[in-house]
Amino acid sequence: MELPFAESYRIKMVEPIYRSTREQREEWIKQAHYNLFNLKSEQVFIDLLTDSGTGAMSHNQWAAMMTGDESYAGSSSYYHLKNAIRDILGFEYFLPTHQGRAAENVLFSVLVKAGDVVPGNSHFDTTKGHIEFRKASAIDCTIDEAFDTESLHPFKGNVDLRKLESVYSSYHQEEIPMVIVTLTCNTSGGQPVSMQNLKDVYELSKRYGIKVVFDSARFAENAWFIKEREPGYGDKSIREIVAEMFSYADAMTMSSKKDGIVNIGGFIAMKDEKLFQNASVFNIMYEGFNTYGGMAGRDMNALSVGLNEVTDDHYLENRVKQVEYLGNRLIGWGIPVQKPIGGHAVFVDARKFLKHVPKEEYVAQTLAIELYLEAGVRGVEVGTLLADRDPKTGENRYPKLEMLRLAIPRRAYTNNHMDVVAVALKNIFDRREKITHGFKIEKEAPIMRHFTVELERIV
Ligand code: F0G
Repeated sequence: MELPFAESYRIKMVEPIYRSTREQREEWIKQAHYNLFNLKSEQVFIDLLTDSGTGAMSHNQWAAMMTGDESYAGSSSYYHLKNAIRDILGFEYFLPTHQGRAAENVLFSVLVKAGDVVPGNSHFDTTKGHIEFRKASAIDCTIDEAFDTESLHPFKGNVDLRKLESVYSSYHQEEIPMVIVTLTCNTSGGQPVSMQNLKDVYELSKRYGIKVVFDSARFAENAWFIKEREPGYGDKSIREIVAEMFSYADAMTMSSKKDGIVNIGGFIAMKDEKLFQNASVFNIMYEGFNTYGGMAGRDMNALSVGLNEVTDDHYLENRVKQVEYLGNRLIGWGIPVQKPIGGHAVFVDARKFLKHVPKEEYVAQTLAIELYLEAGVRGVEVGTLLADRDPKTGENRYPKLEMLRLAIPRRAYTNNHMDVVAVALKNIFDRREKITHGFKIEKEAPIMRHFTVELERIV
């Protein structure tokens, strides 16, 4: 008999989590103005709000924390990280930042000006926020298959080269500071980009003289999918695949809270010394001196170990299989999810799930609240609230996909937890016909409103 799959780690330290009653949750969510970001973490049983900064570090990472060098300039921790970035990702220059959006802020301060356009594959919300804040626009060039949750395209994060070329030929080169390729593409469901597509984007961009920047938050999960799905890569190691991926980029931004397996941190890396020097000026102003940026020495140490661990084939197999396990349970019951299952999260297609809730009443948010009430599971809306209003018209933007994202923290939960999540959603699915109303906005911020929005139930 073939031996069953099991995690290639065991648990040395545990953190208690608490089950609550439905009555308690009814009260808490009301107090939170139906915004899951307003809940206290102890009011949540299984927290799938994000996979960002929520993973469990290994004993080697904790050990590395103890030898962190907190010197202001030239710390050994900086050099550990510099070496890891050079050896694993292939970039000669890097700047530490406190997290991914800080890396965007610094890099875009150099590259983006008012009136520019930045094409890419469904930019993440902070990326788009940093572009729009500079009065530039993000243009989505993702392939159409990404928006059909039933399509089984193996690389739904791919950039549509025709859409990209149409941007390149419609604007002047000076108006296009870069193309951003997000690996994996979070917004379309943690969907990977193929090596062929990375190569094609790079070649096309070089023809037009445009810089290629990877938003690399989940680069290792992307590499895993290339190994699994792309012909010619099955026998290559994750390290080899990662090295080839980044050979098609001029620069990268990183949220280390994902595929760095640390609780805080980020960086920018680049091949061009001039870009490094220009970005250093902003990094020093916004983040900190170049050899620590926004990070403590101990955190840089943990990150350099994390970059090694995340590119281990066994680690990635565990990781992606757990996400797939949850996804497959839902698919087994006919629950509509983005297929194939992505690398860090299961994305439930809320419009197909809650057919009777009008789009103006925030369908995915309604499902997220139902799931919290059912079992104390916190997911997150990736839909109309997140999409914000159109900066020009002030109208709600209704994105092509209205999703409830269940993001799985790295190495934190067991498959028993996944079973609780699955059954909770199944219970809601069984009574979905009775859910006919959602929520209206009471209060919202002008940008990135989903974090602080206050809602009221429509009855
Ligand atoms: N890029 C991508 C693709 C992301 O998913 C995120 C964060 C960022 C950039 C920004 O990084 O949070 O370190 O500033 N995503 C988190 C999430 C918040 O829940 O998906 P950050």
